[in-house]
Amino acid sequence: MQHRIHYPPLLDRITDPKSAAAHIGDGTNLFISGFTSGYPKLVPKELVRRAQEGERFRVNLFAGASTGASVDGILAEAGIVAWRRPYMSDRTMRRQINDNLINFKDDHLSMLAGQVRAGNWGEVDVAIVEAVAITEDGNLIPTMSVGNTPTYVKKAKKIIIEITREPEDLFGIHDIFIPEDPPYRMPIPIYRAADRIGKPYIDMDPSRVVGILFSEEEDCCAVFTEPDQTARAIAGHILDFVRHEIRKKRLPAALPWQSGVGDVANAVLRGFLEDEFYQNIDIYSEVLQDSVLDLIDMGTVRTASGSAMTLSYKGRERFFNELYRYREKIVLRPVEISNSPEVIRRIGVIAINTAIEVDIYGHVNSTHVTGSQMMNGIGGSGDFIRNGALTFIVTPSTARDGRISAIVPMVSHVDHSEHSVDIIVTEHGLVDTRPLTPRQVAEQVIRKCAHPDYRDLLWDYFQRAIHRHGGHEPHILGEVFALHERLLATGDMRPGR
Ligand code: COA
Repeated sequence: MQHRIHYPPLLDRITDPKSAAAHIGDGTNLFISGFTSGYPKLVPKELVRRAQEGERFRVNLFAGASTGASVDGILAEAGIVAWRRPYMSDRTMRRQINDNLINFKDDHLSMLAGQVRAGNWGEVDVAIVEAVAITEDGNLIPTMSVGNTPTYVKKAKKIIIEITREPEDLFGIHDIFIPEDPPYRMPIPIYRAADRIGKPYIDMDPSRVVGILFSEEEDCCAVFTEPDQTARAIAGHILDFVRHEIRKKRLPAALPWQSGVGDVANAVLRGFLEDEFYQNIDIYSEVLQDSVLDLIDMGTVRTASGSAMTLSYKGRERFFNELYRYREKIVLRPVEISNSPEVIRRIGVIAINTAIEVDIYGHVNSTHVTGSQMMNGIGGSGDFIRNGALTFIVTPSTARDGRISAIVPMVSHVDHSEHSVDIIVTEHGLVDTRPLTPRQVAEQVIRKCAHPDYRDLLWDYFQRAIHRHGGHEPHILGEVFALHERLLATGDMRPGR
């Protein structure tokens, strides 16, 4: 695979995982590529090997977003992560974060790169980057994700590169642009989802490369299941609502879409396939999944812009086989651009994001179960919800076989406030909160979105709050978390179970 290094002076940096990982020790600030895909695989395994042989060290681990079991999982299991930022979704790491064994601070994804450039996260001691090739000028062509890698490479004192077998033809899919930092920042010149404003590679100073490895490893591919009935019902409400708004001329037809990952996101995208109303769609999102390939094949999607692609095994095969075609339609950008509040606001994104729970007045918890336990992190949800032209918060009306209501009197943790949220959707219905007072929102959310098992409980609470205290958003403070308390005490939010 030496032919992937088109810059001959770097040929003498080819090395083995053990020598490369020797640059990492106790207290190293380790910044890695990776955003659901495109993370390094060899050096993390070597670090685990060292830990298993008894070496005692802990690193501060910074990625683009989640890296799954093959990085977050194995490093957490080996007990060698002191700090982790930002979003992660691995079960072992989550447990250690909640047990306070790993320090974790949750950040809006759009803001990270600027903070790293400002030095707020300390020195970038070592960056490990997965790439498909090094260009003739010594720059990097990343793999399936961009995330924060351009900034990590720019600021790194030492760089380790893992070159994979993924096709070099990925060259041309990336659009790498690092904005100047305030006070010198100029507008980010994206006016349409398809606009390309940067370079097809990541600028790199080759003199900082301390090791190049050749990797046979592949990303752990995503497993997608068919959207269930709940997800399809939620998607149906959204598609009907948007169609209605466009027909009434309250919403332009050409706004781009963002959809978080997961079942509902897939069901919405699948809905585009089955609904002739939706044509010439642009996607301006964070993570692109298999469904985007279907939509491109059907001619429904014109452009899909994101920071990463996370595909199933089948999806990868299909994508790589016809890369020349997909490359024309797909743009992968740094996450500070894919999630840029400025761009999202300017181009008017229709945003769909999933919540853990929503309260009767429209405040949203996306991150903490029963207020205390971190699930994954805020990811890009705040970037899109706060800035989108029309924002949907979706959730199944219950979790854990009906034992938990996703509609509660007051959310046990706030990620997004009522001021940012436009539309609340569950499988039972949809409430457009924009023309409603908080009391009207509560009435409709209880009636239309809550699960029938919980409607009376919520209605009773709401009525008593009105009569006892009144006010703009009536609450009984001593009772506001009664459902959560019951869940913690009995395992079920419903009384008498
Ligand atoms: N109380 C307790 N647990 C709840 C819950 C609630 N109200 N709602 C969901 N959960 C649990 C589920 O039971 C499930 O647990 P399990 O993995 O142990 O089975 C887990 O949360 C995931 O829920 P699921 O219904 O499978 O939905 P999901 O995979 O779509 O995840 C979020 C939902 C909110 C956790 C996820 O979307 C997320 O992390 N969002 C924040 C970041 C984000 O929005 N990113 C996109 C921006 S581009």
